[in-house]
Amino acid sequence: MADFYFLCIKFTGMTEVLDINITKVERSKLNDFNLQNIPFGKYFTDHMLEADYENGEWKNIEIKPYQPLLLEPSTSALHYGQAIFEGMKAFRNQKGEAFIFRPHDNFMRFNLSAQRMNMPEVSEELFIEGLRQLVDIDKNWIPAQPDHSLYIRPLMFGTDNMLGVKPSDTYKFLVILSPVGAFHAAPMKIAVEEKYTRAAPGGVGFSKNAGNYGASMLPATKAKQKGYDQVLWTDAFEHKWLQEVGMMNIGFIINNVFVTPALGDTILNGVTRNSVITILKDMGIKTEERRINIDEITEEYKKDGIQEIFGMGTAAVISLIEELKYKDIVLKFDTNNFTIAQKVKDKLNEIRNGLTDDVYNWMFKI
Ligand code: COI
Repeated sequence: MADFYFLCIKFTGMTEVLDINITKVERSKLNDFNLQNIPFGKYFTDHMLEADYENGEWKNIEIKPYQPLLLEPSTSALHYGQAIFEGMKAFRNQKGEAFIFRPHDNFMRFNLSAQRMNMPEVSEELFIEGLRQLVDIDKNWIPAQPDHSLYIRPLMFGTDNMLGVKPSDTYKFLVILSPVGAFHAAPMKIAVEEKYTRAAPGGVGFSKNAGNYGASMLPATKAKQKGYDQVLWTDAFEHKWLQEVGMMNIGFIINNVFVTPALGDTILNGVTRNSVITILKDMGIKTEERRINIDEITEEYKKDGIQEIFGMGTAAVISLIEELKYKDIVLKFDTNNFTIAQKVKDKLNEIRNGLTDDVYNWMFKI
C-alpha cells in the first residue's frame, strides 16, 4: 500500500515542499520483538528513508520497508570512501509523546562532514522532516525502559559506478532506526594511544566519515587484546595531547573544574559534549575547553587532582572510565565517587525522558 504525502513545512521563514512516497509494512516486526535489554545497533525497525542525489538535486524520497540495497560492485563509496553518517536518539516522555534529541545540531554536523568529503549537502527539510516522519511511523519502536532509546542513523554515500578517482556525481541518503539499550554499561578501561593516529591538522578528524571509524578498528582491536575497551587518541606529532576516546569525546573533573580538549579539525564536535558543558555551567561548575597533555593528567593523578574521567557521545551518553593506561603508568579510579558525571547523566536523562522542563529547547517533538 503506497500513500503519497505532500507536505508544506516552514523552517527559517521559508516554505518548502517535501514529497515523500510512503510505503508501509503489512505487519510490524514489533509483534515478535521484545524491546527490553536490547544490544546496541543489532536490530532495525520496520521502515527506512531513502533518497537519491542525481543531476544536482535530491529526488525519489521514500519511506519504505527496511530492506537490503542493490548496489553494483563498482559503487564508488566502496572504493574511495565518500561515506558519512550521524547518530541521534529518540525518546518518549511520560505521556508517551515521542521526541528527538537536538536533531538540528546533527543536521548541521552532517552537512559539515558532507562539505569536507566533497559530497552534496542535504536540505533541512529532507533531513529533519524526513527523519521526523520516519520516527513518527516507527514510534512504537521507542523503548520505554531506562537507558533505552531509538537510535537514528542517517548516512550518505557516493553511488557512481566507476573506478575513476573523482567525486561521485550521484549519492544515496538513508535513515535507518535501531532500538537500543545501554551502549557500554560497565565502567571502561582505556589505553592511551601512542603509535597510531586518528586525525591530523588539515585532515578529516572533525567529520563523521566512515573512514575515521575504519582506521580505528586495528588500534581498538589491539587495545582489546590487552584488556582495554577503547583507546584515547593523542595528537599526530607527539602522541601527548589528548583528542577523544575511540567513539566519544573525553572529559575530566580536575580539582573541581571540568576540562575537555578544545575543538579543532582533529576532534568531533560532539552534541553530547556540548550538552554536558551546558548542564555543568548551569550547575555552577567551571568548564575549560583547552589543550590537555597526558603528562598533566599523570601529574595531577599523583596529587589526587583527577576526580572523574568519562566519555561523552550519542551512543554511549556518559561512560565512566575506571582505568587509564599510559606507557607503564596505570591510573585507577573508583567510579562510585564520580558524583558530577552521575549528576549530569541524570539531568540529561530527565530532560530526554520529559521528567524535567526542557529549558534548553533540545527536544524536537515528532
Ligand atoms: C554515536 O555516538 O552516535 C556514534 O556515532 C558512535 C558509534 C556508535 C559509531
